[in-house]
Amino acid sequence: MNPGGEYEDTLLVARREEVASDVVALTLRHPAGRDLPAWEPGAHLDLVLDAGPARRYSRQYSLCGDPADRASWRIAVLRVPAGRGGSAHVHDTLTEGSAVRVRGPRNHFALRPAARYLFVAGGIGITPLLPMTAAAEAAGADWRLLYGGRTRASMAFADELASAYGDKVRLVPQDEEGLLDLAPYLTAPHLTAPAGPGTLVYCCGPEPLLQVAEEACRDWPEGSLRTERFQPRTDDAGTEPGGRAFELVLTRSGLTLTVEPERSVLRTVEAAGVPVLYSCEEGTCGTCETDVLEGEVDHHDSVLTDEERASGETMMICVSRCRGPRLVLDL
Ligand code: FES
Repeated sequence: MNPGGEYEDTLLVARREEVASDVVALTLRHPAGRDLPAWEPGAHLDLVLDAGPARRYSRQYSLCGDPADRASWRIAVLRVPAGRGGSAHVHDTLTEGSAVRVRGPRNHFALRPAARYLFVAGGIGITPLLPMTAAAEAAGADWRLLYGGRTRASMAFADELASAYGDKVRLVPQDEEGLLDLAPYLTAPHLTAPAGPGTLVYCCGPEPLLQVAEEACRDWPEGSLRTERFQPRTDDAGTEPGGRAFELVLTRSGLTLTVEPERSVLRTVEAAGVPVLYSCEEGTCGTCETDVLEGEVDHHDSVLTDEERASGETMMICVSRCRGPRLVLDL
């Protein structure tokens, strides 16, 4: 456990497999064979990567193995050539037997019980949906998976999904069929089974796909669509933080601070010597979620649902701020 109460340990890469072009799957185990913490479909893990003594950083990857297997965790990592270096580090340096620091798991994309599900994956966004489809199948739910990717060879786990679940899985390689078109599946009056009352939609993939899903589900009952982002959202809700200064009260620490316009709540709290857990610092991982006691939050994260934002009970202090003059946090 780390000071924030999260599991943190060094695991070993027990297996490394190329599961698609530019996608490598890693199976992680404890070096002493100990059980790993339990997790549920939708959970992700931090890999704490080391780029030299002055630079440790973390990246989040969804767990895509079997939650019943307590001896190992499995993740799959897409090499992103224009990325920030995390995926290249994983691809180029982690081999069987490598040690890797992990934190978590945590879950902001949990699978809620439903009779019907529509899962929508774009590219590597298949990873959190893999254990979800298994859970939906085991629960006897009516479900379908729409899975789009650049080419068939780039679509990790596509063959095993198709052979395990047959026509419940619709594969859409872009070079063969064009872009995955969600409208026939999500937009009335063309709803295709299993979409309809009581259906939950889980969508993970690149930002344009998520935005299409959000638009198509705009008239669905609130809470029908759940999305998972690996990058900050690009709509108004995800704009860069900044703006006015405001007063920040930390009740448990007994401190009153000022959050300056260009400084985040997280950095302000940390500079005052109050320990706080964080990871991505861009509002996508959920590690820094903090209880709000007073004040109107100006949300800029990509984790909370509209309902959770409206409740104002918690906020991601790495990016979110305060609309008014005063914010009171349970820190
Ligand atoms: Fe990741 Fe704040 S540190 S959401």
